Amino acid sequence: DAAGRRVVELVAAPGTSSFLPGVATPTWGYGGLPFGGPTVRVARGDDVVLRVTNRLPETTTTHWHGARVPARADGGPHQPIAPGATWEASWRVDQPAATLWYHPHPHGRTERHVHRGLFGLFLVDDPEAQVDLPSTYGVDDVPLVLTDRSFAPDGSFDEQHRNTVGLLGDTVLVNGTVAPFLDVTTTRVRLRVLNASSARSYRVACDDEAPLTLVGTDGGLLPAPRTVTGVVLTPGERAEVVVDVTPGRRRVLRSLSHDLGAVNGVARAAGADDSFDLLELRPAARLAPAPPVPARLSRETPLAEGGRTRRFVLAHNRINGRAMDMSRIDEVVPASTTEIWEFANRHTLPHNMHVHDARMQVLEPGVAAGDRPWKDTVAVPPGTTVRALVRVGPHTDPEVPYMLHCHLLRHEDDGMMLQFLVV
Ligand code: C2O
Ligand code: CU
Ligand code: CU
Repeated sequence: DAAGRRVVELVAAPGTSSFLPGVATPTWGYGGLPFGGPTVRVARGDDVVLRVTNRLPETTTTHWHGARVPARADGGPHQPIAPGATWEASWRVDQPAATLWYHPHPHGRTERHVHRGLFGLFLVDDPEAQVDLPSTYGVDDVPLVLTDRSFAPDGSFDEQHRNTVGLLGDTVLVNGTVAPFLDVTTTRVRLRVLNASSARSYRVACDDEAPLTLVGTDGGLLPAPRTVTGVVLTPGERAEVVVDVTPGRRRVLRSLSHDLGAVNGVARAAGADDSFDLLELRPAARLAPAPPVPARLSRETPLAEGGRTRRFVLAHNRINGRAMDMSRIDEVVPASTTEIWEFANRHTLPHNMHVHDARMQVLEPGVAAGDRPWKDTVAVPPGTTVRALVRVGPHTDPEVPYMLHCHLLRHEDDGMMLQFLVV
C-alpha cells in the first residue's frame, strides 16, 4: 500500500438482513452489504478518489465524518446524489491516523438513511508516525460499530418510536450482529468503537469494571495512553481502547448506565439508564504476547490556546436561535487559524456538536495542553458550556459551506445545524 492513488467505489443499495432468527428486515447498505458498509482504509499522503453510486429510491449524500477535505468533497447536504447517479469526491489525505466514518447527510433525512443501515468506518493510517499498537485488522485490531434498533412485528425496523432525543432501539447491534463474540488470540486487543446510533449514548466498560487503556478519540491517537474504567460515546463519537485479556478467561464488554448531566426523564430518553452486553471476548487457552502500550502515542502539536471566540447558544433544537437554511451562510471562518468555539446548552436536552473539517481540542479544566484529546464531536450536557479550540482548513472555498450541527440525528434533521465557509 505505498502512497499513491486510491480509488474506492461504493454503491448504496437496498437489501435484506437477518438480525433475529427467521426474520427478514429490509435494510440499506453500501458496497454490497445489506446493512452497514465496508471499512474504507486510506493512508496519509494518498490521493483518494471515492466514487459513490446511488441505487436507492431517493436522493442521498455520503459524508466523510472527521475527514479534512475540500468542501466540495465533504458529502454534506450540498453534494446530493440522485437515484441512479454517481458522485465522485477526491482529495489528498493529510491528517493523522484516526478512526473516522462515513454516512449520508441529506438535509432533513439523515436519521432515516443512517438508521436503515448506511454507515461505515473510514480508517486513516499514517505510515510516517507508526506506533506499536495492535494493528492486525480483524484479529487484534477490531472495529465495534454500535447501533441500536427496535423491530416492528413484521421484522422491519421500527422508525416510529421517536422521543425528544430521537430513535432509540431496544436491541444493540454490534457490527450489525446481535450478541457477538470475538475469539481472542493475543494478550491485548485494540477495539475501535464507533457510536453510529441516532440518539443513544453508551458507556463502554468491562463487566468487572477492569481498567481499559484509552489510546484514541475522534481525531486520532492521544498524546499518551489513559487508564479509564469506561468511555462515554455520544452519537458520532469514536474511541480506541486496548483491552488486556487473560488466557481462557471470558470477559464481557458492556454498555453501562451513565450520567449525561440530563434531568429526570431525559436521561432515559437518551438511553443513558440502560445497560447492554456489547461483546464477549473469548481468549484462547494460549495467547500470543503483545507489546505493552507505548507511553507516547501521537506527536501532533497541540492547538495553541487563543484566537477569536465564536459563541453558539443551543436551545430548542436551534443554534443561536436559527434553524438550518441551505441558502444562508452563518459563519465565515479563516483557514488554518485556531479559534475558540463556545457551545452553551440552554436546554434540558443533551446535545452533541460536530464540526466538519475540524481539528478540535476541548478546553477542560485540569487537562494540560499537551494532553488534550483530538475531537470532532463533543457532548454538551444541559445547562453547561463547552469551550473548544477549533481549527479548520487548509482547504478553502468561497461558495461551498461545511456544517456545524448536533449529531443527535433527529436534532440535525430538525434544523439544529448551521453552515460555515472556510476562506
Ligand atoms: Cu457525522 Cu455532519 O456528520
Ligand atoms: Cu462530519
Ligand atoms: Cu441536539
